Amino acid sequence: MPATGSRLDPVAVDALGLRVHYELARLGEELQLGRRVAALVGSLLAEIGHDCGQPVRVVDIGCGLGHVLRSIAMRGDLPRSVELVGVDLNPVLVMEAERLARAEGLPVRFVNGDAFTPGVAIDDGARTVVVSTGLLHHLTSD
Ligand SMILES: C[S@@+](CC[C@H](N)C(=O)[O-])C[C@H]1O[C@@H](n2cnc3c(N)ncnc32)[C@H](O)[C@@H]1O
Repeated sequence: MPATGSRLDPVAVDALGLRVHYELARLGEELQLGRRVAALVGSLLAEIGHDCGQPVRVVDIGCGLGHVLRSIAMRGDLPRSVELVGVDLNPVLVMEAERLARAEGLPVRFVNGDAFTPGVAIDDGARTVVVSTGLLHHLTSD
């Protein structure tokens, strides 16, 4: 990893972050994470009022490259009326997730934000289901 003194080159850090998350996305495909998350969320939709026309949003916190929501959107595992939003702390990953969703023509939105910042929530009355994969080990016990 290139560095100046004790400071790692930020361009190399971002490039490594992207490479690692592409590998995680590939692993997620093997594990069929999108299908599993969609099966769980799909089983909750009637309970939270989707069938009665209540708006429903699924938010993936710590979404990385957004492969879970992009794969759900690509296969159409959830009704089109369910809004899909990915949130991640790392703006480089968010930009790449957005780029991929645009290139794939998928209706998934990505937002740069911290899971612990209240502003990340969108307070418009939609029933929100929060999902997350591979994030908990990044957080302290507090
Ligand atoms: C191991 S990756 C998992 C990415 C993706 N969910 C997956 O399953 O491949 C953890 C992700 O959590 C993000 N993250 C870490 N702390 C976060 C926080 N406080 N708020 C939002 N995202 C966070 C990181 O930027 C990274 O993209």
